[in-house]
Amino acid sequence: MTTVSLRRGKASRIEYNSRRNATSGSAKQLHQQEAEVLEGVSGAKNAGSGFSLSGFPDRRASARGIKGQLLEMSEIGSGESALARQASSSSRRGGRRKETRVTVPLNDFRAQWRTVGAEVLAAVDRVGASGWYILGREVERFESALASTWGLAHAIGVGNGLDAIEIGLRCLGIRPGDKVLTSPLSAFATTLAVMRCAGVPVFVDTDASGLLDLDRCRELLSHDRRIRLVVPVHLYGHCVDLEGLETLREEFDLGIVEDCAQAIGARFRGRGVGTVGQVAAVSFYPTKNLGALGDGGAVLTADEAIARRARALRHYGQSATYVHDEAGLNSRLDEVHAAVLGDVFLPRLAQWTTRRTEVATRYRSEVRNDAVRLVPVPEGSASVWHLFPVLCEARRREAYRAHLSGAGVSTGIHYPRLIPEQKAMRDYGSYEVHGPLKNAQKLAEGEVSLPIHPFLSEDDVDRVMSAVRGWAG
Ligand SMILES: Cc1ncc(COP(=O)(O)O)c(C=O)c1O
Repeated sequence: MTTVSLRRGKASRIEYNSRRNATSGSAKQLHQQEAEVLEGVSGAKNAGSGFSLSGFPDRRASARGIKGQLLEMSEIGSGESALARQASSSSRRGGRRKETRVTVPLNDFRAQWRTVGAEVLAAVDRVGASGWYILGREVERFESALASTWGLAHAIGVGNGLDAIEIGLRCLGIRPGDKVLTSPLSAFATTLAVMRCAGVPVFVDTDASGLLDLDRCRELLSHDRRIRLVVPVHLYGHCVDLEGLETLREEFDLGIVEDCAQAIGARFRGRGVGTVGQVAAVSFYPTKNLGALGDGGAVLTADEAIARRARALRHYGQSATYVHDEAGLNSRLDEVHAAVLGDVFLPRLAQWTTRRTEVATRYRSEVRNDAVRLVPVPEGSASVWHLFPVLCEARRREAYRAHLSGAGVSTGIHYPRLIPEQKAMRDYGSYEVHGPLKNAQKLAEGEVSLPIHPFLSEDDVDRVMSAVRGWAG
């Protein structure tokens, strides 16, 4: 047990008990993944994402720094690449190598490429021939298609989801030292965006579904009127209670950036995700439901002034050619990705979401094993099933994953370590944790993500379910 004390004036001194023991299992699991990466089993580019654009096993992984890839694997992490479908994972048992064929990967980018490859190449060809590669017609076309699909007036293509959140916060006027209420259970990027604005991340617990607990938010907001910014995360593809969020926004006059990286298209009682916050931030990281063939993201908003500022911020803060009213970023979605997203992926998003939902429906009705529980779907949420989380006993998680792996089923963990427990947070120093993070901790310790993506066949689902049912606990 270690105690992190945050000195932000005596009155606001907050103590957080870090449960070191609870994370040692995760550390072990990371080592296991590290070994797999080194063997080249899941070593395509973005090993954790399962993304394999070129199909090259990434021997450069070790050169670039395995640790960096592991962070990706744990934060964004989705386990094996499509290469793993053909490769074999191996482990040493009794001095002999036991070969296990990965038959159901977490993501299947090879299958995706077989479906979309020709169209992607045609889009790339068009952009190449156009001679215009940055902030041109393709980006404009994609932005307008995305905005109309989402039902918001403006979409601004940016470099990635992290930048989208940062730009969103800056559009809402964040200043150094401003407190931002957010979730302890998310990709680190959610909090990193706050840190990059020199803000103070403030964490409260999630509910049992892994989404920011709005009752706790209300409690805290009533006590600390200095909190005026919130970044809720629509985790796993579920939608936060948008009615509750809207009530909080109005009652406390909040600026809200909804982190929609995992939840494009999700709804709450018919209302679309990203429509309560003044800003919605989305990621096109390859594993996302609308994933590019590289990095990308977007800021969405109904507000013209926010849109204008976001456009300037993504482009060095340039409000007119060579006029810089503030220091911005270089965070432009490029023409090639915009063309590919607009021509090939966005038109398939609805159909692919339907397939994810079908798989989730089967999983939800067929996971019958007392040792494995479904993570509850929040009432009112129509999820887009970016991930399919289940819960098992914390101390048996690695054994459970090994069992599934033995049956050829890849799994992930989202996320094994709460954000306030990350060393980067301690080094940053300026953050607050309010109350025990019991629900979030339970998910961090026991969550396992089953494979879910549009290319799973019914046979794949059968395989996953039979492996899940075969687990003795
Ligand atoms: C919840 C969440 N927020 C933010 C991000 C950051 O997106 P990106 O990787 O595009 O920066 C991610 C994903 O990767 C995410 O899952």
